[in-house]
Amino acid sequence: MRIVFLASECVPFSKTGGLADVAGALPKDLAALGHEVTVIIPRYRGTSPGALLRGSENITIPLSGGFRFAGIERGGVSKGVRHCLVACDEFFDREGLYQAKDGSDFPDNAIRFGGFCLAALEFLKRQPHPPQVIHCHDWQTSLAPVYLRSLYARDPFFRSTATVLTIHNLGYPGLFAPDILSQISLDSRLFTVDGLEFFGKVNLLKGGINFSDYITTVSKKYAAEIQTPEFGQGMDGVLRKRASHLQGILNGVDYHAWNPATDQLIPARYTPAKLGGKKTCKKELLAKMGAPAANLDQPTLGIVSRFAKQKGFDLIAQVADELMKEDLSIVALGTGEPEYEILFRRLAAEFPEKFLLKVGYDNELAHQIEAGADMFLMPSRYEPCGLNQIYSLKYGTVPVVRATGGLDDTIEEFDGTEGTGFKFSEYSATALLAVLRKALATYRDKITWTRLQQNGMQKDFSWTVSAKAYSAIYVKLQEETAKTIAAS
Ligand code: ADP
Ligand code: GLC
Repeated sequence: MRIVFLASECVPFSKTGGLADVAGALPKDLAALGHEVTVIIPRYRGTSPGALLRGSENITIPLSGGFRFAGIERGGVSKGVRHCLVACDEFFDREGLYQAKDGSDFPDNAIRFGGFCLAALEFLKRQPHPPQVIHCHDWQTSLAPVYLRSLYARDPFFRSTATVLTIHNLGYPGLFAPDILSQISLDSRLFTVDGLEFFGKVNLLKGGINFSDYITTVSKKYAAEIQTPEFGQGMDGVLRKRASHLQGILNGVDYHAWNPATDQLIPARYTPAKLGGKKTCKKELLAKMGAPAANLDQPTLGIVSRFAKQKGFDLIAQVADELMKEDLSIVALGTGEPEYEILFRRLAAEFPEKFLLKVGYDNELAHQIEAGADMFLMPSRYEPCGLNQIYSLKYGTVPVVRATGGLDDTIEEFDGTEGTGFKFSEYSATALLAVLRKALATYRDKITWTRLQQNGMQKDFSWTVSAKAYSAIYVKLQEETAKTIAAS
């Protein structure tokens, strides 16, 4: 089938979080199943088209607030996947993907990403055959299904095109003032509860949920959670309405990029049977972060994360003093909301030998922390899937996580023999501290600890199974579309 991914970020072109990892990896496994996959993404300031470039064509973006012009840079086919970059400097030649350096959202984000969706649809219309499925991701590309049901509703070209929306994070819905509709080629009649209206605002993700043919999210548990008031962020009702067309499919891992046996970004390679290289990775990591040599004998806890409320770092703040009395050190890498940057900087200043921090985005260090740490900490308030805990399993770095969303689905509590990590349920600092103490006690028993590491390293979270689940949805949608066309 002809499948088109519309995504706002994708490795190796651009990345702020896990969406980029998914948009980079899943298409390759879909192509391996025989699908013809094209991934359309924006060309940001930092995006290098690399060796892929095979030519460019110009597109007029029919935005009601004023037409814009974009170049579509078409890449060659790599591992069965074609990448196309939408180049529109007015929208994408900026200091960040979604935000200015001070952390504030760009005020014209709806126009930027609405424009991106329209550019992609106009580009697709020029192709000899329509895609059978357009697969969108998060609020940034939620407008594509909305446009297909409104602006393009009578366009015969897209008659047989179905849409899938994957929700990677309900916490970022894309909220805008109602008057935005007139600037993004949408009729004000869409401003209803069954359309894009959400407590007096325009909610782009809600538009995607209401107008896509099928919705997925990135773990089974999160799929159930978002249909409850506690996790639904006000959209649980909308999601419950679409429950028959909503499925949780767990994210996979690209083991070409995240595997300690082959990873060239870490100082030494290792496998479950030969763990020696991991010790070298720990030594180098601690040295790089400026830790005293004595820390090598203590357990090291790793954190690699966007600094956001979602990630539960306020729990660490609450138990910091007690935690730092323990025999351990913490290596943290992240960037994001100023509140959490300030918190982490304070801890680093207060405990300079034990709390080792780098504020920023650094892919190489992210790999080195995965390899060099003994445990990986993810106390998330909620977590749609989470990728770092799955990477940690592969690197023999034992995850200590809150039992929510994908964290609960991917980590099995260690019982002394079976299991892959440690989990706590209640969102409280005392629960976190208790589980950490349990993990630290287990760490002291080297034989048991090695077994726990090996349990995790032997797990297989490759994309193969999940790609088949997406493929089955595409096939079902194609059959339904064919029936609808035959009946009309
Ligand atoms: P989320 O998408 O919510 O941020 P995930 O766990 O799904 O969380 O994915 C995060 C991805 O982003 C991982 O690949 C992680 O290594 C990477 N990442 C997060 N913060 C940083 C950072 N500061 N530097 C490098 N990589 C980071
Ligand atoms: C989101 C979620 C994260 C998930 C990622 C990729 O950013 O916060 O849990 O792993 O998307 O789907």
